[in-house]
Amino acid sequence: MNILEDKNQCYIRAAMEKGTPQERETLEKALADIDFSILEHIERKETVNERGVFAPLDAVELEEIRARGEEFKKIGLEAIRQGKVGAVLLAGGQGTRLGLDKPKGTLNIGIHRELFLFEQLMRNLMDVTDEAGATVPLYIMTSNINHEDTAAFFEAHDYFGYPKDAVKFFVQEMVPACDYQGRVYVESLSKVVMSPNGNGGWFGSMVNAGLLSDIRERGIEWINVFAVDNCLQRIADPVFVGATIAYGRESGAKVVRKAAPDEKVGVLCTEDGKPSIAEYYEMTEEMATARKENGDLLYGFGVILNYLFSEKKLEQIADAKMPVHVVEKKIPYMDTEGNFVKPENPNGYKFETLVLDMVHMMEDCLPYEVEREKEFAPIKNLHGVDSLDSARELMKGCGIEL
Ligand code: UTP
Repeated sequence: MNILEDKNQCYIRAAMEKGTPQERETLEKALADIDFSILEHIERKETVNERGVFAPLDAVELEEIRARGEEFKKIGLEAIRQGKVGAVLLAGGQGTRLGLDKPKGTLNIGIHRELFLFEQLMRNLMDVTDEAGATVPLYIMTSNINHEDTAAFFEAHDYFGYPKDAVKFFVQEMVPACDYQGRVYVESLSKVVMSPNGNGGWFGSMVNAGLLSDIRERGIEWINVFAVDNCLQRIADPVFVGATIAYGRESGAKVVRKAAPDEKVGVLCTEDGKPSIAEYYEMTEEMATARKENGDLLYGFGVILNYLFSEKKLEQIADAKMPVHVVEKKIPYMDTEGNFVKPENPNGYKFETLVLDMVHMMEDCLPYEVEREKEFAPIKNLHGVDSLDSARELMKGCGIEL
């Protein structure tokens, strides 16, 4: 599609008309590098989530984990010591709900002392590496928006005591954002509004960044992917790794028991025989409330964005197309009069692939139950549900001094 010939594209046209020759040239160059075919997903946005037949998937539950914990842990620690386990921190998001203009991981979650989110995550990882007496290579995904700040923050804090040569950054791809009519926004006379393409493209971005040789050279067989915003996140958890290996699965997902049938979490189940995550809005009332003989919910475990994938499998699916989700967001932009607008409400679409769709590309997946109070404290907002406030309470409950 030649975007400059598209009469619909009022923001780009206005910018081309108003800009100086130099601004025009810069904009034109930027436009030439963008694949605008992503906009076609707007027409498919209703069908991207068209689903197959869901069925329940049994989890390995706390009781079994307690009973077989030592066995699993031994297997997991062994894999870590053999250098077979790597970790990927997904930190390319914009954290718009939190409203921070710095990377989310730089948030100070301490109260009486300084404790950065990145710092807490590195401590969680070091709990494991100290016990194993081995290092887990950590790859950090950033985006153009926060890459420099993130890398500089780690540098300034001496990688929080983690060996620097075990940490590598890579930058995810960006895609244009547009209004509800598919008109691409500009942020200035020479710049299109671009946003990170979601957390689903992380492996592809690692490959594009040339990190596949690093993964292979190190002999990594398992990759633990996790979100930046859960400060209680256990990383490269040897019991989880060991359980996934012991069960002979090619992926695993940490899950928490649903607090109520209508809780708004994505539930791990199967779809047409393959593991899959049913979003809460995709569940029928019947599915959401169905119970097993023992009274537990049949679809009773929600994902917390902590997955373990077989590296071999990731390579096999690296070129597979992932569903593109069209997400409504607040997008600051420059209007056709040249005024900069910071919207109060969502005003357009961003395009994202999601790591949870990767689970459906696996042959199988082990849902692995964890205690919510010990492992799940996501910080999406400043106050209220899934917030800095609620995360601080949960951290205190875990005996972490703030
Ligand atoms: P969220 O879905 O919470 O998105 O990301 P976000 O961008 O951080 O926050 P909001 O929605 O704008 O408030 C879940 C995880 O996926 C990462 C985030 O950094 C977080 O760890 N992520 C998200 C990426 O790495 N890249 C993306 O493009 C989007």
